Amino acid sequence: MIEFDEKKKIFHLKNSYFSYVLGIEDFGVLAHLYYGKPIDSYRGARKYPRIDRSFSPNFPDAENRLFSRDTLPQEFPNYGCGDFRESAIVIEHNDGSVVSDFRYKDYKIINGKPKIPGLPSTYTVEEAEAKTLKIILEDSFSLVQAHLYYSIYKDRSVLNRRVELINKNVAPISIKKLVSMSLDFVGKDFEMIQLNGAWARECVIERSKIFKGIHRLDSKRGTSSHQQNPFFALLGKNTDETQGEVYGFNLVYSGSHEMIIEKDQYNQIRVQQGIQSSQFNWILKENEKFSTPEVVMVYSSDGLGEMSRTFHHLYNERLVRGIYKEKVRPILFNNWEATYFDFNDDKIVLLAEQAKQLGIELFVLDDGWFGKRNNDRTSLGDWYVSQQKFPEGLCETAKRIRKLKMKFGIWFEPEMISEKSDLYRDHPEWVLHIPGRPLSKSRNQYVLDFSRKEVRENIWEQMCQLLDSTPVDYIKWDMNRHLTEVYSVGVSSIHQGEIHHRYVLGLYEFLEKLIARYPNILFESCSGGGGRFDPGMLFYMSQVWTSDNTDAISRLKIQYGTSLVYPISTMGSHVSAAPNHQTSRNTNLQIRENVAMSGNLGYELDLKKLTKEEKKFIEEENHFYIKYRKLIQYGEFYRLKNPFEGNIAAWMFVDKNRKNAVVFYFKILAEPSDPIDILYFDGLDENAEYEIEDIGRYSGSELMYAGLMLNPEVKEDYQSCRFILRKL
Ligand code: DGJ
Repeated sequence: MIEFDEKKKIFHLKNSYFSYVLGIEDFGVLAHLYYGKPIDSYRGARKYPRIDRSFSPNFPDAENRLFSRDTLPQEFPNYGCGDFRESAIVIEHNDGSVVSDFRYKDYKIINGKPKIPGLPSTYTVEEAEAKTLKIILEDSFSLVQAHLYYSIYKDRSVLNRRVELINKNVAPISIKKLVSMSLDFVGKDFEMIQLNGAWARECVIERSKIFKGIHRLDSKRGTSSHQQNPFFALLGKNTDETQGEVYGFNLVYSGSHEMIIEKDQYNQIRVQQGIQSSQFNWILKENEKFSTPEVVMVYSSDGLGEMSRTFHHLYNERLVRGIYKEKVRPILFNNWEATYFDFNDDKIVLLAEQAKQLGIELFVLDDGWFGKRNNDRTSLGDWYVSQQKFPEGLCETAKRIRKLKMKFGIWFEPEMISEKSDLYRDHPEWVLHIPGRPLSKSRNQYVLDFSRKEVRENIWEQMCQLLDSTPVDYIKWDMNRHLTEVYSVGVSSIHQGEIHHRYVLGLYEFLEKLIARYPNILFESCSGGGGRFDPGMLFYMSQVWTSDNTDAISRLKIQYGTSLVYPISTMGSHVSAAPNHQTSRNTNLQIRENVAMSGNLGYELDLKKLTKEEKKFIEEENHFYIKYRKLIQYGEFYRLKNPFEGNIAAWMFVDKNRKNAVVFYFKILAEPSDPIDILYFDGLDENAEYEIEDIGRYSGSELMYAGLMLNPEVKEDYQSCRFILRKL
């Protein structure tokens, strides 16, 4: 998987999906040579031409006007000595200078993929699955070393990159920027895709041209955010779902982050991804190390669909951990939209009984069970059971629910604190704040300083007390505001630039401890829906509440966009009431079911308002889902029709041996005199015969290449249907 040509000084990382080639250039500069379809053996076709470009500095050899870093494609571009594009690193040395000049020193090939201390990452189960190239660069002036890690899996189109910085100088440095990955493309006329959004409108797919200059996509919110998922892709102009080149990049990190796409004067494109640099200033003392989070890079020469399936496989198989890894997820009922804060023990048990009758397997008690929490103005931080709502204790309620042969789950928002809480009264200094400066509230709450051990310990003890005394099978870990006035009274002024990242490290440390202590609990992360839907959280929590928007029509886009990177098994999606609580839209139960069961199916609506017929229908739908959920949650996922482009959405799930498939088709608005729609299936065995339930027999090739013609005449809005395929 990794070859080093000593003579030509070239590293070639290669498997059957891609090649990645880098070389040691003149003066030890680490150059990027090639990333794309696999090539046999690299002989040097991409040696960057020596040109005398005016205004390009000639460093380090002033006499050699043919060599400049100004234009050279590189792996770790420096700041301040000849490359005017975005640099991979900015460090301030003890003398106040910010220039660095990292050159090649050594390399090492490591079997497997080393863990990153304190940070989430994709992993290997067997060492032979991957190899890692570690390249050691050094700035000989300051004695700072940068270790660049490249891990390649044998059987996946995945390359992981990250950087570790080591200060070998007695004097401390301050790191102002350190990306996880910097990569230069020459001669590629790419477009780019990003996943932006807002609360209740996550993962909007936006495809755009790349203009000259810098596109900076980022989050400064202290979380990966609804606004900008830590994912982007570069793709050819003609690339679509099924064909063409795509390079996808996803940062395994849950805090503020940035992605830079820069097109230079010669149309060369530099991309970078890493921790948000504008909020970052890390002091590194003698012999200390700093590790960046990793970037997962996926290459596909077969379009976006293949890129997504590569991400899905990797995340299901080598990111998610715990007993729910690759296991089917239960159908859950969540009481949030059914009751909001207005409930007590009997009401909860009644809901659970009704849910049980419908075939629901897990009951989740959402916000409002603790302290004096009857609205969102109080009690975050006081994780003890409300006497008023649960006079006999929560354990009794949990037991009553478990007696129904249902699992019991519970909601927490551990990183937050209400001003009206015992915890705030006792420890106002535990909030992220700047002494003397007014502090922003959001949803009436403050953020606890999770960079501090004593704060984490207090929350840890409170949570353990509850979890050790109550049978809990599931936890929803919520986070309902972003970080402001980021400052910790726990450290001195020179370390304040570390707090954003230390907060994330504190969170990860907590989560690691939590999942280790409660290995049988199913964890679902949430940040007002998909505000922290990122691979960092998935390392600890195997599913995510995709969006607070439960409207089936909005969800078509949200789930379609989310599926670009994240596996179906990780996406929570619920059937809720009509009219919908976020959009007031009145959709039929069938489409609500079909959309919700295109992920981890759940329900959150007042069950007593359902008619007998609706209850019967839901029960049947749950039977259907239980029959097909393994295929849906873990099958190969194909997007067939894009709701961002029109009135129709469709997607399908195919099992690994292409024997069974389920297709979901949605027509949003009924339009008179609509053109004929043809549904082209995907992922089938072209040589096999398939039976489509209640429709007929067709060959795989007919379904994929000729397609199924659909009658466009629907009389109502929000129509949907399913096709069930079985290989004969
Ligand atoms: C935001 C979540 O996304 C909702 O599902 C719900 O849990 C509320 N928080 C509760 O406050």
